[in-house]
Order: sequence, then C-alpha cells, then structure tokens
Amino acid sequence: MSLDNLIDAIADQGWYIWDDFLSVKQVRDLCQEMPENWRTAQIGRSDSKHQNQRRRSDKIQWLQPTMGFAIHDYLERMEHIRHNVNRALFLGLFEYEAHFAKYDIGDAYEKHYDAFQGRTNRRLTTVMYLNEHWTEADGGKLKLYSDQDELIETVAPYAGRLVVFLSERFPHEVCISHAERFSIAGWFRTNGVSEQCFDISR
Ligand code: OGA
Ligand code: MN
Repeated sequence: MSLDNLIDAIADQGWYIWDDFLSVKQVRDLCQEMPENWRTAQIGRSDSKHQNQRRRSDKIQWLQPTMGFAIHDYLERMEHIRHNVNRALFLGLFEYEAHFAKYDIGDAYEKHYDAFQGRTNRRLTTVMYLNEHWTEADGGKLKLYSDQDELIETVAPYAGRLVVFLSERFPHEVCISHAERFSIAGWFRTNGVSEQCFDISR
C-alpha cells in the first residue's frame, strides 16, 4: 500500500513521490474548483514585493474546506495522511494549510527551504500536481536538493502526482515553466505557538 511506502520513505530518506495519488477524474474535479482570482505569492514579511517577484512569480489562492466537494475531499485525504504519519513517525503534525498555485509561462520559484530549523512550524511539505497534458518541453520541473546541495531528484509536475518531503531538510526550486502550471502546495504544521515562543536561537 502506498501509504506504507510513503511512511517508510519519509522515515528512511525524508521524501517520497506518489504517482497516481489522485485519478484523472479527481484532478479534473479539483481543477473545476480552482479559483478565478489569484494573488501574488509572498515569501516573508521582510521581503519587498520586487524581490518577491524575482524569487517567486507564481500566483496563489489558499484552500478553504468550504470551497467545494473536490477540495473538501482532498483535505480529507491529507488528514488521513496526517493521522497515519503521526501514528507511525510521531512527527506531531497538528494542522494542514494549502494553496493552489498557478505558474504562468516564464514563472519560476528560486531555490528555497519551506522552513528553517526552529524558525517555523512547517514540518512536512506536500505538492499535488494538476497538469494533465504536461510534456518535457513544458519545463516547470521541481528540483529537490540534499542539505549538502546535491541534486537528489528532478520531478515533472504530472497530473495526479503527489510529492512529499520534510520541510526543513530539502532545498528545492521550480524551474521556469513554459506552459501554465497548476498545483496545490501544502504544509503540515506542528502546533506552532509553543515552538515559536520557546525558540531561543532568535
Ligand atoms: C512551494 C514549492 C514546488 C512545486 O510552493 O513552496 O516549492 O513543484 N512548490 O510547485
Ligand atoms: Mn517550496
């Protein structure tokens, strides 16, 4: 069962690619519920908007469980993962936040971490791809690096594919997209309040 494979892979290597996590129909249903309004993604409060757009040019919209049936269903699947990963690995995943992301032609996201050790409560990253007719020529690959900055894996954003990795461990980037590229990026977080309050490294 792939949930077991996911748990084993996260325990052994910290990342996992789950092909056909969703069926074509499920991906289409999610696309139907995609928002029509997109907002410029922000990186952190201290970044100027100009810097943001150089580092990251995708547009986003946060998921709400009330948005529609397919989104609700997706969030339930994530809840199922959260529950089982916690039970097996004691990661203390507490909640899940996720947004749709849209990369227009020419958009990219420079190499970054989703979380910095001790600085955030994002623990486990998920990226779900929604691109049914993606080809090599469309670019837009996700490149995952080790903490020594060696390339680990190059991942094409095919529909139905789910990528999961430990948020603090893997720098990654999205290469320039040559077609419209859609995804749902999400993060399982620990119960952040206490973690941030007791972060003495700041
Ligand atoms: C992100 C991200 C990867 C992807 O949104 O933080 O790294 O493949 N996304 O879309
Ligand atoms: Mn990221």
